[in-house]
Amino acid sequence: MSQTINLAEINSKNKVVNEESQNAKGLALNALWLDPFAPPSALHKKALHEASIELLSVSTLDELKKVLNKTNLVVIRIKENASLYDEVLELVNSVKLRLPIICRIDRSDFELGIQITQRGAFQVLASDCVKVEDWISLAEKVIEKQKNRNTYVFVDKESKKLLTLAEKVAEADVTTLITGPTGSGKEVLAKVLHDASSRYSRPFVSINCGAIPENLMEDLLFGHEKGAFTGAIKEHRGVFEQADTGTLFLDEIGELPPNLQTKLLRVLQERNVTRLGSNNQTKVDFRLIAATNKDLKKAIEHREFREDLYFRISTFRLSIAPLKDRPDDILPLATHIISKTGKSFVNLSDEAQENLLTYHWPGNVRELDNVIQRALVIRKGSTVTKEDLIFDDLPLEQLEQPAELSHSLGGKTESSFLSEDHDSVGSSSTTNPAESALNLDDAVRHSEYLTIQSAIRSTKNRNDAAKALGISPRTLRYKIAQLKNFEPKQFSFE
Ligand SMILES: Nc1ncnc2c1ncn2[C@@H]1O[C@H](COP(=O)(O)OP(=O)(O)O)[C@@H](O)[C@H]1O
Ligand SMILES: [Mg+2]
Repeated sequence: MSQTINLAEINSKNKVVNEESQNAKGLALNALWLDPFAPPSALHKKALHEASIELLSVSTLDELKKVLNKTNLVVIRIKENASLYDEVLELVNSVKLRLPIICRIDRSDFELGIQITQRGAFQVLASDCVKVEDWISLAEKVIEKQKNRNTYVFVDKESKKLLTLAEKVAEADVTTLITGPTGSGKEVLAKVLHDASSRYSRPFVSINCGAIPENLMEDLLFGHEKGAFTGAIKEHRGVFEQADTGTLFLDEIGELPPNLQTKLLRVLQERNVTRLGSNNQTKVDFRLIAATNKDLKKAIEHREFREDLYFRISTFRLSIAPLKDRPDDILPLATHIISKTGKSFVNLSDEAQENLLTYHWPGNVRELDNVIQRALVIRKGSTVTKEDLIFDDLPLEQLEQPAELSHSLGGKTESSFLSEDHDSVGSSSTTNPAESALNLDDAVRHSEYLTIQSAIRSTKNRNDAAKALGISPRTLRYKIAQLKNFEPKQFSFE
């Protein structure tokens, strides 16, 4: 294994493209400027230049076609109707470029502005807008969009297969159910689906059904009219309406309460919604992507989830594997996380790489992100060493094979597990706790250690151990982490 991970190499194998491309004049973005009515004014040129946008002006659609692949955004002038927008959009889609289209519209053409926004224009600007700040904020939005779209890691064979499948499913515009453990990238995959679909320039609206109380959830989904209930001082569009023409991502759909499951089913069948306090139905056109880490089939058996809703939402199913089952993603993801923080000069030592590869990642990519972020804070110099890696959990072999634990915790090589406090106590570190004069605090901890040890040994996994101990898995993790720092030479799982 090489000492450092080469980001360029990973990027070339992968969809990750992080460089902010600069054009010939050193400006950040190229814009294709299509205006059949007038050439760009000097003031426009100046404003765009100051916003680091290089102008490539064309006057016909044919010219536009030829230079399309050199550009980061398309700016078109529209008058009276949206037909030019539709043509440009079709052209951009036909070459599979996901370019943002910005429409310049006369200030008096308010109606057209609304129409174009609803059709998914990236932004609408007044045709005479020469305000530098407006163009700068547009440029920032475009760069942000490019970054987001290209910053996912799919290197492992399994992940590549999933990505290819997802891109196919995206085109089909069907309701999709994504399953996978927490932190594995379900929302990331939902965004990939959205970005690869014809709705890519429309809104992507995401809501977590597990994190919101039931009464609030209904309001968030359906919205309300002004005065619908005490406190409803303004009308509010629910997420179905917000996602109109785009994609709605319902995370943790297994947590949706039964009465809302029924209501969701109705929306999916009828494709219209009624706000709370309203009699009017509003037509909505969204693509639904749902995600769950629950076994919905079991939930159906237990009558917690409606079977008919399950069939509605799972026209296509995509399943993400736990991170430990796609090991070739681990190091590219680690490098990717490092580079996202702008510290691409930081590398991982061989041992650190080895530890990342052998850890069991119960929290998946989200946990990897945490581990790397922590390591970046505590590292000294430009290399992350194995001592800098603080995992949320004990490595698998230590939890599930107690015999090895005593070896690895007791051995000199694992000195990182020694807390400094106990190191300084020194003399007791080699003695057996039964023989030494322990203070009460140590004795309590020792007893807790033995209790946890016995629970882990007598159960199949950590969740069962936590259950046996009458504490939550989270508390168990916390206790193990604390005891790990206690005194490894006195207390081991052996
Ligand atoms: N393939 C991937 N490439 C880059 N980052 C990823 C990938 N998968 C997950 N992540 C990151 O890991 C974290 C958790 O992902 P998320 O999609 O929210 O997981 P889930 O919805 O399954 O809980 C996020 O910070 C996300 O950006
Ligand atoms: Mg999620």
